Formats: sequence, C-alpha cells, structure tokens
Amino acid sequence: MSQTPKEEKIREHTFDGIEEFDKSLPNWWLFTLYATIAFSIAYWVYYQKASMGLDQEQELEAALAEIDEVVAKAKAEAGVIDNDTFAVMAKDPDIVSAGQLIYTQNCSACHGQNLEGGIGLPLNDADWKHGGQPLDIQKIVVEGVATAGMPPWGPVLGEEKVNQVVAFLVSKQAK
Ligand code: HEC
Repeated sequence: MSQTPKEEKIREHTFDGIEEFDKSLPNWWLFTLYATIAFSIAYWVYYQKASMGLDQEQELEAALAEIDEVVAKAKAEAGVIDNDTFAVMAKDPDIVSAGQLIYTQNCSACHGQNLEGGIGLPLNDADWKHGGQPLDIQKIVVEGVATAGMPPWGPVLGEEKVNQVVAFLVSKQAK
C-alpha cells in the first residue's frame, strides 16, 4: 500500500484480500440526491397538500376551454355566424336589449308584447314550425314566410339588427 496517497483512507475490512478506499460520495451525486428530495417535497406540497396545481381533469378542462376560445375568436375574426355565436350573443346584455327594442318596434304587433303570439306564431315556446336552432330562426327572420304573412326582415333591418333580434329570441328560449 505504499503507493496509496496519505489522505485516501483504506477501510478496515478486506474481501478475499481486496481492500477498499473509504471515499466520500462525490458532491455532484449528493447534490442530485438532495435536489430530488427537495423536489419531491415541493411536488407533494404543491399538488397534494395545498392543491395549488391542477389535476389531470382540470388541466383537460382548461385546455378545452382554451380551444373553444381560440375557435370562437377565429370565427369572430372571419365573420362566421353560427349557432354557437348566437348562444354567446344571447348572454350579452347590450345585444339582447338592442334586440328587444327591435322586437318591440317591428315584431310585437304580430308576435305579441311578450312573444306570446297573435297574428304570428308564439316565439316563447319550444314549438318551432321552421326549426328552433338560432340559424333556423335567423333564416326565417331574414327571408320571411311569404305564403303565411311573415315579412322578410333582412332588407328592412340589415344583418346586424336581424342578428340582434335573433339573439334576443334565443335569450328568451334559454329560460
Ligand atoms: C305582419 C305580422 C308579422 C310581423 C310584423 C312579424 N312576424 Fe314573424 N311571423 C308571422 C307569421 C304569420 C308567422 C308564421 C309563419 C308560418 O306559419 O310559416 C311568423 C313566423 C315567425 C317565426 C318562425 C316561428 C316558428 O315557429 O318557426 C319567427 C322566428 C318570426 N316570425 C320572427 C319574427 C321577428 C323577429 C319579427 C320582427 C323582426 C317578426 N317575426 C315580425 C308574422 C309576423
């Protein structure tokens, strides 16, 4: 053992004549170990104890909501109006009150002050002769039903006002 440097300790036991240095663990190894322990504690506290992190289901929900938002935004930018667009418009108080005013001025004479019907069909029930999806309603409002006395409102009101009054009708349906 004469070639062994002084500071290198030799362990006392031998295995079949083989001797070992008594070296301490390398610092990089110890650091990694402590780091993983610290990480596991932080992870446990974050997800299990404090419930600060989202679980898988919440993460999925958040991701889906984000997709919906992106799709809605892209549609709005492209000027696409579909049933979902009306569902969103029907929750916007400004659009709904604008639609209500248009309804009172143009529609209530035939469809009633409270959409209960009269000369025209009731618009507050689930019974739709021409379909109850927002786009069906929009189509009837724009084109009218010439044979049955429902005037075409597209040329009179224009697209924006038609959509506002449809959003108003959709808001009444939702309840
Ligand atoms: C001159 C009377 C009159 C006015 C004014 C009128 N409507 Fe109508 N409307 C009718 C009649 C009549 C029908 C039934 C058509 C049929 O039987 O196919 C109808 C049908 C409808 C329908 C389809 C109902 C269903 O069950 O499918 C919608 C929606 C509608 N009107 C919306 C409106 C809106 C919105 C306005 C105002 C912008 C309006 N109407 C103004 C007479 C009118």
